[in-house]
Amino acid sequence: MQRFETYLHNNLPKVDTFHPHYNKALSSMLLAGGKRFRPMLLLSVVEAYEPLLFEAALAPALALEFLHTYSLIHDDLPAMDDAPLRRGFETLHVTYDDATAILSGDALNTEAFYRIAKAPLRNDIKIKLVELLAKDGGMYGMVLGQSIDLHFENEPLNLEEVKQLHINKTAKLIATSLLMGAVIVGLEKKKQDELYTFGIELGLLFQIQDDIIDETHSDEEAGKTTGNDEAKNSFINLIGLEQTIKEADSLATDLEKRFNHFDKALQEGLRDIVLKYLYRHR
Ligand code: IPE
Ligand code: IPE
Ligand code: MG
Ligand code: MG
Ligand code: MG
Repeated sequence: MQRFETYLHNNLPKVDTFHPHYNKALSSMLLAGGKRFRPMLLLSVVEAYEPLLFEAALAPALALEFLHTYSLIHDDLPAMDDAPLRRGFETLHVTYDDATAILSGDALNTEAFYRIAKAPLRNDIKIKLVELLAKDGGMYGMVLGQSIDLHFENEPLNLEEVKQLHINKTAKLIATSLLMGAVIVGLEKKKQDELYTFGIELGLLFQIQDDIIDETHSDEEAGKTTGNDEAKNSFINLIGLEQTIKEADSLATDLEKRFNHFDKALQEGLRDIVLKYLYRHR
């Protein structure tokens, strides 16, 4: 969505300082691109039900992208996945140093919550958005998943445990992106729950597809360091490429069926973004 890209460009993290590359380090991974999957999910829900709230929803959408980008910057650090390429560019710790990458991640993490606090939305809504992003993007979600991912390198988990790993490190932030959209437009609880559950399955599929990409794509094709999951509890290492593709197929078909039962407005709003990624492993 062009409106999101324009908003991002006009609202980059920027501070007045004599530090020679502070601002550049903070914004370069945001400017490098990426699919913008999480902000698009939030904005698509808003667009489906309350297009007039679209402008006000841009700040929390950008907050999601900030938090996600922080998670990528830290994920690539030598102490984590040790990856030199991200979004088609050299990673921050390669261009600058570990300290710059760590601190840029820290800044984007906290800045996400600052942007929500300053958004032109009702206070009760903003508190709920902060709660959701902190919960699923933090110690109950993404951070827990990353901790499991790294602690259990070279130590095989079972299928159920790998699913839990993927749900925490990736799916919860994706599910919460849909839910944040639902909160902004004031959807009833039952519909919120339905969207969140759908988002967990969609996020699980998204990470399984990411595992497939690590196995099947070159660095150039993926724009990031691939072939990097050797020690990981990836679906590929657990059940092999062929079975992983079958698992992704079955999840995608199931999700498509559930999507077709959404109300018409939601289907219309989410169709482009959901269909674009459902079968991307094919
Ligand atoms: C990569 O996320 C890490 C995962 C959680 C799978 P994306 O595949 O959304 O990365 P970008 O944002 O497009 O770079
Ligand atoms: C990372 O998973 C998930 C995050 C929370 C950042 P990966 O380590 O598989 O992501 P990529 O493949 O490096 O993008
Ligand atoms: Mg990782
Ligand atoms: Mg990684
Ligand atoms: Mg990966």
